Formats: sequence, C-alpha cells, structure tokens
Amino acid sequence: MKGIARGNKGEFRPGVVAYLSGLGIEPYYARDGLTLYRGEELDLLPHLPADSIDALITDPPYCSGATSSAGRAADPVAKYCQGGNALGRPTFGGDHLDQRSFRYWCTLWIRLALRATKQGGYGMVFSDWRQLPAMTDALQAGGFMWRGIVPWDKGRRSRAPHTGYFRHQAEYISWGTKGPCLKALGRGPFDGVISAQINYRDKLHITGKSVEAMQHLVRAVPPGGMIVDPFAGSSTTLLAAAIEGRQCIGIEREESYCEISAKRLDDYFSRGDGVAKTLAA
Ligand SMILES: C[S@@+](CC[C@H](N)C(=O)[O-])C[C@H]1O[C@@H](n2cnc3c(N)ncnc32)[C@H](O)[C@@H]1O
Repeated sequence: MKGIARGNKGEFRPGVVAYLSGLGIEPYYARDGLTLYRGEELDLLPHLPADSIDALITDPPYCSGATSSAGRAADPVAKYCQGGNALGRPTFGGDHLDQRSFRYWCTLWIRLALRATKQGGYGMVFSDWRQLPAMTDALQAGGFMWRGIVPWDKGRRSRAPHTGYFRHQAEYISWGTKGPCLKALGRGPFDGVISAQINYRDKLHITGKSVEAMQHLVRAVPPGGMIVDPFAGSSTTLLAAAIEGRQCIGIEREESYCEISAKRLDDYFSRGDGVAKTLAA
C-alpha cells in the first residue's frame, strides 16, 4: 500500500510506522506522531506489529440511518444529512451492510485490532442507538473484555423527526480492554458520560465527531501512547491525539478524506497554538 507522504518527511517515525515502512507500506501523511494511511482496514491492520498499540479508538460506518434495508443502502448524505449537506462534504462508502453482516464485519476488524493492542489496552468503538447491540456483540466476539458504554451527549441541536420524539441526542462508545483493565497512573477515573457539542465550523466529515469528545477518549491512553483509528474520516481522532500529546495511526480509504485530513492536520500544526486546548485534568 503506497501513499504520498505529506507533512514533515524524514522526521522521527514511531516504531510501528518505521516497521510498516520496512514492509513497503508508506503513509499518505505523517507528522509529529500522527500517521495516516490511505487504504482498507482489513488490508492494513494485519501488518501492525502484535501488542504495539495502546488503544483502538474508532468511529466506523454505522450502516444505520433507516428502518428498511433499502433505506440503509441509501447514500450516507441522504441518510445522515437530512437537514442538507450545505457544507458540501464528500460522501463515503461501506455504509450499506445489514445488521447481521455489520456485526460480522466489525468482529473481523476488531479482532485484527485486538491482535495489535497491548495487554490491558483499550478498545473504544462508536455506534448509534440502532447498532449498539450489534457493536457490543462485535466488541466481545472480537476479543475485547466489554466493560461499559459511554454515552456521548451532543446536546439539543440534535435531530428529532417530530415533536413526539425523544431527540436522537446521543451516540455511544462501547468500550473494553484486552484482558485486565489496568490502573491509569496519575489520571482517571474518566467521565462515564461525555457532553460535547459539535462545532459545525470544525465538522469536516458528513458524520464527523466532536474534537472535544475525542479528546476525552484519547486521554485514557498514557501520554505519548499510540492509538489506531482504522476509519479516520477527516482525522478527528488524530487531531485530538495531537492536542492531548498522544500518537495516532489513522486508516482511511477515501482519497477526498485523506486530503481533507492532511490539510486539517497541517492547519493545526501551522497555527501552533491549537484550535482546541488540552482538556483540564
Ligand atoms: C463514520 S466515518 C469517520 C468519521 C471520523 N470520525 C471524523 O470525525 O471525521 C467512517 C469513515 O470510514 C471510511 N471507511 C469506510 N470503509 C472503510 C474501510 N473498509 N477501510 C477504511 N476506511 C473505510 C469512510 O470513508 C469514512 O470516512
């Protein structure tokens, strides 16, 4: 898997990235502990060295957004941007599986990520309310010890189909560990509910997550630790890792989103002071 390496070439490369380079797998973007590969997660994850990663933190395609199979197979822009895609973000693929196939597919890549995760490392995977049961099954079938669900409360701007509804105001992070859950030295316990509104100026993906919500998650990893996000999208996880002083490897198959990511991360580094500040301890 060859990419066009963007960012600061020739600088310090984390061990995992140097190892992949030795296999001829070059990043699309690499800078200051952040590395993005363009490709498919099932192709790349098997090449990560075993026991090399502190956490899997990811937001896969939800394959959700409708009650009928025809609705689920619709373009993600139609499913997830019901208020319109005014910002013109690109669409993406891989969002069409029915729930049985979704559970099976998630189990495959979670298993591969588990192999790359250190003993005691975290698995944290986003889903919506429809796919939450499938995701907790897949997290366990993939080999993580399921330990809980962290709701991410996005606030009252979230959509409700009509006034009779409870708002679809939360998404859910199913989390677990590879074997024992180790004590975090000088950190934690971590908040079990995350409240963070989406900043629409900084939402560069049609299903982009809040940088602040991701900052909460990456802080479970030791400072300087390594995260993998196999569905990087616009690289919100990588940005949060940079802000919080962690390293992150992202994988993204759409070139449009690799480009958006490269620009977003370069913008962050060139601003110097950072858009978002590190969260208070
Ligand atoms: C839900 S989005 C992630 C959004 C991200 N959290 C953000 O804030 O920008 C999922 C991403 O996974 C990518 N994707 C889908 N199937 C993939 C695959 N098999 N391998 C790698 N990336 C894939 C899509 O292109 C999409 O950008």
